[in-house]
Amino acid sequence: MDKVLILYASSTGNTEMMAEAIVSYLKNRSYTVVSKSFEFDTIDVKELLDYDLVLIGTHSGDDGQIPFEAEHFYDELEDVDLSGRLFGVFGSGESFYDIFCESVEIMGDRLAQLGASLVPTRLKVELEPDKKDIERCEHFAEQSCSLLSIGI
Ligand SMILES: Cc1cc2nc3c(=O)[nH]c(=O)nc-3n(C[C@H](O)[C@H](O)[C@H](O)COP(=O)(O)O)c2cc1C
Repeated sequence: MDKVLILYASSTGNTEMMAEAIVSYLKNRSYTVVSKSFEFDTIDVKELLDYDLVLIGTHSGDDGQIPFEAEHFYDELEDVDLSGRLFGVFGSGESFYDIFCESVEIMGDRLAQLGASLVPTRLKVELEPDKKDIERCEHFAEQSCSLLSIGI
């Protein structure tokens, strides 16, 4: 069975709720899932290569930038060969700010620039995910898995 890694940065729990919905969806479909927090877990970029699919969630803080706790990871991404590897990006933000969920775009662009294949949807949620947003998370997980099954 395919192995999936979920990485997330979440300061107030909203992106974490998205990650949990994705993990729960995947586990219910018997995928082997590992979930890690940028804040609390050790994350070595080399371990990305151990997984068939990696989904990365980031909240958007000051100026929509990559969260501080994920900056090191972001910088080190260029140390591994990501070509052809499947990634997806997601996160919570607030449309009150000039650029909504900018960190999701920054992370997605970085991965694409390094040759990764990206799940077409870059999933963005307004603040705390509601029931509809949780369904969007599940759909995002489903879409990501369908790309795995056709070998993208
Ligand atoms: C100082 C600060 C700056 C923020 N800047 C942005 C921003 O530029 N774009 C955005 O979409 N959201 C921005 N937000 C909103 C957060 O991304 C939003 O509250 C999000 O739900 C937090 O997710 P988390 O609970 O996973 O940490 C900002 C929040 C704070 C506190």
